[in-house]
Amino acid sequence: MQNYKSAATIHASEILITSPSIQQLMKKTKILLIGAGGQLGAELTQGLWKIYGQQNVIASDIKDAQGILKEGPYEKFDVMQRDKLFELLKRNEITQVYHLAALLSATGEKDPRWAWKLNMESLLFVLEAAHELKLHKVYWPSSIAAFGPTTPKQNTPQDTIMDPATVYGITKLAGELWCEYYFRRYGVDVRSLRYPGLIGWKTPPGGGTTDYAVDIYFKALKEKKYECFLSPDTYLPMMYMDDAVKATIDLMEAPAEKVKVRTSYNISAMSFCPAQIAATIKKHLPDFTITYQPDFRQSIADSWPKSIDDTAARKDWGWQHQFGLEEMTTDILKNLNSV
Ligand code: SER
Repeated sequence: MQNYKSAATIHASEILITSPSIQQLMKKTKILLIGAGGQLGAELTQGLWKIYGQQNVIASDIKDAQGILKEGPYEKFDVMQRDKLFELLKRNEITQVYHLAALLSATGEKDPRWAWKLNMESLLFVLEAAHELKLHKVYWPSSIAAFGPTTPKQNTPQDTIMDPATVYGITKLAGELWCEYYFRRYGVDVRSLRYPGLIGWKTPPGGGTTDYAVDIYFKALKEKKYECFLSPDTYLPMMYMDDAVKATIDLMEAPAEKVKVRTSYNISAMSFCPAQIAATIKKHLPDFTITYQPDFRQSIADSWPKSIDDTAARKDWGWQHQFGLEEMTTDILKNLNSV
């Protein structure tokens, strides 16, 4: 009786997600990853290849396939072409979309109107497609940029003041609410993480405020010096790419009932400032020197959290990070030295 009663209180959209139709269960996973040419996209594509098989993951980007992406299925396509998106999804019988294409924080400030259009419209196209074509799951990244100057800066909670100061952040906050709307209203199983700064060594970064923490490794090895566009004590939440790929796949693989936050999850691994990353690099490369020349990106960084409370992600679906600053630095320098 107890069970019967609680089942009756479940919202219709939850039934849709937790009880996929037999047809859905039988249909095998076929993924489209949009924005595969970006910093996260290339590595996430490879992570998905390992789970679902290369032939079941179609990478796409507005640019031609680069590097490792040439090895798998690839579609060159502009996400602003709604019809092409629908056609691609139908033709390939796609069941999941990872939509990573976006203008980042620093680039977005150079053309706010375009950043709004690209980031927002492309998300809406994907959500509309997910609803109309009954996709099983959608992944869309949010960011620490969704927070703003009056957000508590230390251990920023999951639910708190959100007053983004960049157009990129505004698109992330609005996008989070659209994701929740599509989940509540149509039962679209869309999942999201608020990434901190992501640091990888395989693909160059593209227009972010946290990108200094990527460039610094390349310059340290090549030139033994780096001029940083943020001040030495600018703390920001950061994550190594391996952890970001793991977090994304862990969230997407979690049973739907464990995904309780339908805007976007806080997610965290480490927090450091330019002076700290420089000191860590110096342990490996004693001749390395850093100078500081803060530019417009300083005020963007100053509007963001310094550290993130990701208790909800750890509790709901078991998030655990692996890399701190020391481990990440050792790993990156080792890999860059051998390429
Ligand atoms: N890393 C991004 C940026 O700096 C934030 O999500 O724009």
